[in-house]
Amino acid sequence: MKKLDMIYEGKAKRIYRTESEDLYVMEFKDDATAFNGQKRGTIEGKGELNNNISAVFFEILEEKGIKTHFVKLLSDREMLVKAVKILPLEVIVRNIAAGSMAKRLGLQEGTKLKSPVLEFCLKSDELGDPMINAYHAMAMDLATKEEIAFIEETSFKVNEILSRFLIEKNIILVDFKLEFGRFKGEILVADEISPDTCRFWDAKTMEKLDKDRFRRDLGNVEEAYKEILSRIKSQN
Ligand code: C5P
Repeated sequence: MKKLDMIYEGKAKRIYRTESEDLYVMEFKDDATAFNGQKRGTIEGKGELNNNISAVFFEILEEKGIKTHFVKLLSDREMLVKAVKILPLEVIVRNIAAGSMAKRLGLQEGTKLKSPVLEFCLKSDELGDPMINAYHAMAMDLATKEEIAFIEETSFKVNEILSRFLIEKNIILVDFKLEFGRFKGEILVADEISPDTCRFWDAKTMEKLDKDRFRRDLGNVEEAYKEILSRIKSQN
C-alpha cells in the first residue's frame, strides 16, 4: 500500500493517506511527551515497540469480536488502519487508583477499585484534556447517546479481555486510555494501545512497566516497553 501525503502529526504518531480512501498508514515515532507536552524526550525504539504491542492487542480484541481500526502491520513502525474519523474524546478505564485519579481523589496509588471506573476527557491540548461526562459529550455534540452507550460498553469489554489476557502474562492492567473513530457508520477502537496509553504493573513485584517510567524519571523505560512486548508475545 503506497504511502501518500501526511495528513496528521501528533506527539507520538504520524498519519498518511494511501491510494485507497478507506485506509491510512499510521507511523509510530520515538518521541515521548508527558504532562500535556511539558516534558519531552525520546525513548529509543519506542515507535517499533508500540507498533508491535498495539498490533498484538488489536488482534486479540478483533478475535473477541471488538471492532478496531487495525488492518495489518506494514513495517517495524507502521501499520495499515481504517481511515476513521477520530472522536474528540479520550476514554479512560481504571481498575486500580493511580495517576490523576489517585491525586484528584486523595487515594493511595495502588488502591484496588471495587468496580472499574470509566472517565471521559475532551481531547484538547489548549485546555489540557479536561474531564467531562456523558452529558457534556452529548451537549457538545461530540457523540450521540447511542454512540456513548456503545463506547462505554465496548470500553468495559476491552478492559475484561485485556485484563484477563495480561494477568496470564503476570501483568496487571491498572488503567488505560482508548480512542474511538467513526468509519462507514460504525464506531471502531482506534489510535494505539501501548505502554504510552496504559499502566502495566508486574503482578509479582508491582514494578511499573509503562510510560510512568518516563513521566517519573524511573529509568529503564525502553527495557520496560521491551518486557511488555516479550511477555505478550510469549506463548506462556
Ligand atoms: O494521567 P491519568 O492517570 O489520568 O491517566 C490514566 C491512563 O490514561 C494512563 O494509563 C495514561 O497512560 C492514559 N492516558 C493517555 N493519554 C492521555 C491521558 C491519559 O494515554 N492524554
